[in-house]
Amino acid sequence: KSCVLAYSGGLDTSVILGWLQDQGYEVHCVYVDLGQPCEDRDAIMEKARTCGAKSSRLVDVREELCRDFAFPVLAWQAKYEQIYLLGTSIARPLISKVCLEVAREVGATAYAHGATGKGNDQCRFQLAAEALDPGIEMIAPWRIKSFRDAFPGRTELIEYCDVKRIPVKASTAKPYSSDENVLHISYEAGKLEELDVNGVELVEFGMGVSPQEAPDKAEEVTITFESGVPKTLNGKAVNALEMVEQLNDIAGRNGVGRIDMVENRFVGMKSRGVYESPGMTVLYDALMYIEQLTMDRDLMHLRDRMAPEVAEMVYYGFWYTPKMDALMSFIETAQRPVTGEVTLQLYKGNIMVSSRTSPNSLYDEEIATMEGGGSYNQDDAEGFLRIQGLPSRVQGRVSPRKF
Ligand code: ARG
Ligand code: SIN
Repeated sequence: KSCVLAYSGGLDTSVILGWLQDQGYEVHCVYVDLGQPCEDRDAIMEKARTCGAKSSRLVDVREELCRDFAFPVLAWQAKYEQIYLLGTSIARPLISKVCLEVAREVGATAYAHGATGKGNDQCRFQLAAEALDPGIEMIAPWRIKSFRDAFPGRTELIEYCDVKRIPVKASTAKPYSSDENVLHISYEAGKLEELDVNGVELVEFGMGVSPQEAPDKAEEVTITFESGVPKTLNGKAVNALEMVEQLNDIAGRNGVGRIDMVENRFVGMKSRGVYESPGMTVLYDALMYIEQLTMDRDLMHLRDRMAPEVAEMVYYGFWYTPKMDALMSFIETAQRPVTGEVTLQLYKGNIMVSSRTSPNSLYDEEIATMEGGGSYNQDDAEGFLRIQGLPSRVQGRVSPRKF
């Protein structure tokens, strides 16, 4: 029997690597490089080898994550429950895709991951995997009772590592769990489960400083978009990964992009999460300012109504679905004219616009001006409002409102 394991090198997947071998599997470890800012890749790959992996590999999909996963979600301006930029959610389908590619290559028939039975990640891994390879056997050890009985807590996981000589870094024992990639770092569980614990004070953030620690002077950043896709940063053409990485630095040092929320998981429970996504936070705002110039009003309003639905689908894990494919065609069309340049000021966690231009701008000073003249005829508003007001006048006569 042989399986691929979505391997992060953390405590859980290290134990799972050993346990799968105990169950008679040959295990092929896949570390999907998503640009995790704080992880030591050499140590992680070394650990997979010493722990008996049949094969182990690092697959670098950082550019793909930004270009083909995060940027389309950005184009939708999709945020889950108003503020979560979906940094973990959107990475999961890509992890499944990479693991299944490896499975095909090595002839593995099963795909294992370390997500628990209580969370969102299991949904995203599995829904993506089943869409891509309907025949794949999913192994989620945390959903298997004998595994949970063997490892009721962290102590048993660490004991198992001692017995199997799996190296455990004591320094990783933070009072919460985290998940990281180039888009963001998320923090949840442990001490963060207590809502009276101040999240941003507890967490040791990996991508930037707090607004309080940020410089007393605003920093300017200029971004251009072509058809909704970020293209240049401070005058230099950059690829998707460079865009996100460099903006992480710039926004991170200005305290931008931290949130603390209680969110609804797909499995029903509410859970508390702290997130930092400095670069993506800037991109969402930057794109919005170009959309304001270039996107048709009714189209924008329709997009805005559908964006929460897209966010929900990404959050739940319905990425590889015909509905999502159709939504992606929609947003590509909607973003076609969204080309232009915006300059923002970042200041102690705030993002302020200083200027924006676009060759496709629909903003017409001549029409908008409050000065006399111009090409807008106020007489026209007379008839416009007579007709708009017709139903109200009829209602007002038939059933007068008390006021
Ligand atoms: N709550 C976030 C989400 O559902 C973050 C999940 C973090 N996952 C993790 N394994 N720590 O997208
Ligand atoms: C997990 O439960 O595996 C992590 C949290 C989540 O998936 O929501």
